[in-house]
Amino acid sequence: MTTTADAHDGDLASFDFRNPAPDYAWDPFGATSDLRVGHAVWSTTWGGFWILTNAEDVRACLQNSTLFSSSGGFGIPAREKDRPIIPLELDPPEHAKYRQVLAPFFGPGSVNRLWPSLSEAAAVMVDEFAQDGHCEFMAQFAQRFPTRAMVAMLGLPVDDTPELVRWNHEFLHFRSIENPVGTELEAAQRIERYLAAAIRSRSVQPRDDLISQLVAAEVDGRPITADEVMSLVFQLFIAGLDTVTAVLGRSFLYLAERPQLQAALQDPALLDGAVEELLRMFPIALVTRTATSDVDFGGVHIRKGERILIDFDFWNRDSTEFERPDECNYSRQHNRHLSFGAGRHRCLGSHLARVELAVALKEFVARVPRFRLAGDAAPTPYADLVRGVTALPLAWDVP
Ligand code: HEM
Repeated sequence: MTTTADAHDGDLASFDFRNPAPDYAWDPFGATSDLRVGHAVWSTTWGGFWILTNAEDVRACLQNSTLFSSSGGFGIPAREKDRPIIPLELDPPEHAKYRQVLAPFFGPGSVNRLWPSLSEAAAVMVDEFAQDGHCEFMAQFAQRFPTRAMVAMLGLPVDDTPELVRWNHEFLHFRSIENPVGTELEAAQRIERYLAAAIRSRSVQPRDDLISQLVAAEVDGRPITADEVMSLVFQLFIAGLDTVTAVLGRSFLYLAERPQLQAALQDPALLDGAVEELLRMFPIALVTRTATSDVDFGGVHIRKGERILIDFDFWNRDSTEFERPDECNYSRQHNRHLSFGAGRHRCLGSHLARVELAVALKEFVARVPRFRLAGDAAPTPYADLVRGVTALPLAWDVP
């Protein structure tokens, strides 16, 4: 049996996904090539957790919610909670009851209807700086656009967008070795207070928006409670903003140094393939599970209650799954990346995310035909359960 102590050998033993070495933050797969020998590795940071380094184990873990539970709480260590984030932190059978409530709003039919309004919002945002010849892409576009999309969908005031961007960032990122509690709890409470007010007002006076429809929903044949609506909306809020922001940041940084890939985005026939390939190249979301019993898995012995971290880079860049995985190929066939996860908890917002990414790429390159990195300082990565870029100054020539 491999004990926790045995598993401490190996360079990932002190691996901290929140404060990784720059090599790892930019390229987790490349930076760990000598460690991926088919075994999970134990890290002693953040109370200890396993990181699955083998592609097949990543998929198998996500498909077994009996052995690997989500109800232990999101994050490493598991976040402090007074109520679960629904449906993310639920296991079967509760999970399906709530996922069912959200699912109709996020199917391809509902989401495709948003295409014109999202295109218009993106075009307006890019037009604000296109003639300047430069922008700070993260603040001026990547953070604003997904929040704007969500605010419109939920029926929240557009003017609240900047505050929502900030609270969300504080909830997801502000933890470090020096400040282990960070601003997570405080930010969660702010978000909850804000959403509670919106839910209360829709209960009294319904509108034509998603919150009103959720307030009127049923779960298991009974009316949904205000607390449950709060958890569902909170989930959308934390799952749907920062993730798209991070993919945009990583993708535009990559594209800024590759004019040919930018030019190829002008071809409408390649747009969907480009979205899939950029999602594969930049699996920005890490997910967590808790072992429900002692189990031999991933070449190690995992004990009941131990936490597991899954980094989709270990699947998306695996050469047994993808031919020439380091190459960004918009025409790649059978692109079965796992950036949206797998199994019961597979991302419910994947269609919305794809539409947002396609719209952003299309509207940006239509107005800013060839952009490059600006400024002397190299962009810095941030790393947590979502990995992105802190700031991304871009420049281009204005005719
Ligand atoms: C490119 C952007 C996105 C990425 C990479 C992403 C990734 C993921 C991943 C990996 C999971 C699985 C979590 C787990 O297994 O524990 C997930 C779940 C989820 N995502 Fe996304 N996501 C994105 C955008 C969105 C958007 C735009 C929304 C909706 C507004 C959304 C809503 C959700 C929800 C509700 C879940 C929980 C599903 C469940 O537990 O059944 N996501 N996402």
